[in-house]
Amino acid sequence: MNITAATKTFAIIGDPVDHSLSPIMQNGWIADHGLDAVYVALSLKSANAIAAIRALKQLGLAGVNVTVPHKEAAARAADRSEAGVANVLRWEPDGSLSAFNTDGPGFLDSLDETASHWRGPATRALIVGAGGAAQGIAHALSPHVSTVHVINRTPQRADEVARSIPNGRTLRWDDLERGFGAADLIVQTTTLGFDGADSPEWPLAVCKPTTIVADIVYRPLETPFLVAARRRGLVAIDGLGMLIHQGARSFELWFGVKPDAAKARARLMQALAS
Ligand code: ATR
Repeated sequence: MNITAATKTFAIIGDPVDHSLSPIMQNGWIADHGLDAVYVALSLKSANAIAAIRALKQLGLAGVNVTVPHKEAAARAADRSEAGVANVLRWEPDGSLSAFNTDGPGFLDSLDETASHWRGPATRALIVGAGGAAQGIAHALSPHVSTVHVINRTPQRADEVARSIPNGRTLRWDDLERGFGAADLIVQTTTLGFDGADSPEWPLAVCKPTTIVADIVYRPLETPFLVAARRRGLVAIDGLGMLIHQGARSFELWFGVKPDAAKARARLMQALAS
C-alpha cells in the first residue's frame, strides 16, 4: 500500500468500532483492485452525530460505513437517503451526501449464496429478536416471503417490527417451539450466543428438515444456534455472509466494481482465527 496525499480515505464510523472487521475486508478489496484508497475505523463519540457526520466532508472523506449507534443519524445527515437507517454514505462530486442501506440486501445476498432456493411464495420466515438488525432483515425479507413472524423476549419490540411490514406477525417468547416448527427460514438476530454469552436450548429438533437457518452473530463464527442446526442436518448460514455482502455492496457504491466475496471470507476467517 502506497499512501500519499492523493490517497482517498474511507472509514467505518460507530461506537465501538475497535473490533470491526470492515477495515480488513475493505482494504483487502482496495488492494485487489489496485485502488489509491485506504479504509480506517473511526470511533465517533458525539452527542450530535448528525453534525459530526456532516463535518466529515470537510476532512475530505470519500465515503463511510456507519454502524451502531449512528445509523439513524447517518440517514438524517444525508441530503438523500434510500431508507430511514443507513449504513453507507457517499459524498458526491457536487458535494452532496447520499445515504444507502446495504444491510438488508446484503443479508438477502448471503441467503442467495448459500441457499438459493429460499425464496418462495409460501416461505414462512421467523426472525428471533427485534433490534436494529432484526428490523432491517424484516424489511428485506418481507416482499419475498408469505409471512414474517417476529419473536422477542420483550413483546412490545416484536410488535413494533411486525407492524412495520405488511406481512408481519408477532409470536410470544413462550411460542418459540411452535414458531420453529412452522418456519421455513429462521434468522437469529439476538445477542444470545455472542462472544460466549449464554444461549438457550433452541428447539431445532422440531424444525422441518428443509428449514434454512441463519445467524447474524459471527463471533464465534459457529454459534451454539448454528452448531445445533448443523447437528440436526439443516442448511445453516453464518454471520460472515451478511457482513461480507453488505460490505461488497458498499464497495460497489463507492468504486463501481463488484469485489470478490470469497477472498473476503478467506481473509476474515483468518482474522477471526488469530
Ligand atoms: P441490534 O440493534 O444490534 O440488533 P439490540 O437492539 O441490542 O441490538 O437487540 C438485541 C436483541 O437481543 C434484542 O432482540 C434483545 O431482546 P429484548 O428486546 O428483549 O432486549 C435480544 N436479547 C438480548 N439478550 C437476550 C436474552 N438474554 N434473552 C432473550 N433475548 C435477548
